[in-house]
Amino acid sequence: MSAQDATGAHPPCVPEQHPGLRGLAPFRQGKSTLDDHVNPIKLSANESHHGPSPLAVEAYRNHSGQLFRYPDGAQSQLRRAIAETFGLRAQGIICGNGSDELLQLLIRAYVRPGDDVVFSRHSFAMAVVHATAQGARIVTADEPELRPDTDSLLAAMAPRTRAVIIASPNNPVGRYLPRAELERLRRDLPAETLLIVDAAYADYVEAEDFEPGQALVDAGSNTVMTRTFSKLYGLAGLRIGWMYGPANVVDAVERIRTPFSASADAMAAATAAVRDVRYTRFVRDYNTAQLRRIEAGVTAMGAGIEFLTTHANFYLLRFTDDRHTEEGAAQALERQGIIPRPVAAGGPARCLRITVGLQHENDAVLGVLADYMAR
Ligand SMILES: Cc1ncc(COP(=O)(O)O)c(C=O)c1O
Repeated sequence: MSAQDATGAHPPCVPEQHPGLRGLAPFRQGKSTLDDHVNPIKLSANESHHGPSPLAVEAYRNHSGQLFRYPDGAQSQLRRAIAETFGLRAQGIICGNGSDELLQLLIRAYVRPGDDVVFSRHSFAMAVVHATAQGARIVTADEPELRPDTDSLLAAMAPRTRAVIIASPNNPVGRYLPRAELERLRRDLPAETLLIVDAAYADYVEAEDFEPGQALVDAGSNTVMTRTFSKLYGLAGLRIGWMYGPANVVDAVERIRTPFSASADAMAAATAAVRDVRYTRFVRDYNTAQLRRIEAGVTAMGAGIEFLTTHANFYLLRFTDDRHTEEGAAQALERQGIIPRPVAAGGPARCLRITVGLQHENDAVLGVLADYMAR
């Protein structure tokens, strides 16, 4: 018999949720359709508009006769292909259902209820969700230059800090923590604090002083890097990502990971994709060239709009006068069948995020924005 409340009614008896879930809202995906446009140009999710390497598509198709088989839980071929392509130890690699799953596993393996997790401000929203659900206290370190900032991260440390998580390049800005600053961060963090470098957009970065985190993984036992096939490799729909960590971190994740969360068709496609280094270079070069064109186009629009330097496959536009706003620009784009991504609460003010598309798609964006700014 359930207890009665003051009004005599029986309160509903429902199973109690984990307290970590309090205050969490379900994830909201960016818009992907528009009422008045059958085929909108979707520039809201940082997908690769080139699609995957043709060799990856072929490997995926060739796998169709094997769908009745479980995947290789040891992930041998994909681990080897990643290791050979990036010059890493194959034993340090674990693949999963997107880098999202690997971030969740790392948090589950290392964070206890009541621990602090320090996040750099512009990190991956789902990683914050995973840490919150685990019962952690979320501590946010500011990004004064709109990129992870070593001094802010170190200042946010407390005795209960279990892990520090940065996205480099970050999202929604596309800026990274330079190598020397990343090394200083690792050097000045307590050795027992796990540093997680979410390098989902690393494949796009061409800058000499960029380090995605793998050198620190190899140099110690307290840094781990996560990567994805969802962005440059064009495999977002298959859900496949990977992490690279020292033996102790790999051991922890191996104990809790679901053996078959990286599907066999995803691993077949990703293996071919990561080995197709010519295609990878083509997509990276194209992105860099498009960013230059877009920056020049936006700069030519004059006062009122600013292109923020980025190293990823998306960019932020900031609106700086009274007559133009990010909402106004988003509406103008949507009226012409183009879907940008509004910046979530806590992101840089007065900004709109747009994914780099194919040249004609980027030109369409520039055309709409030039009209909007001329109003
Ligand atoms: C910064 C960052 N990290 C991680 C991810 C997760 O990517 P996935 O789970 O598709 O590998 C994303 C996806 O948008 C991202 O923007």
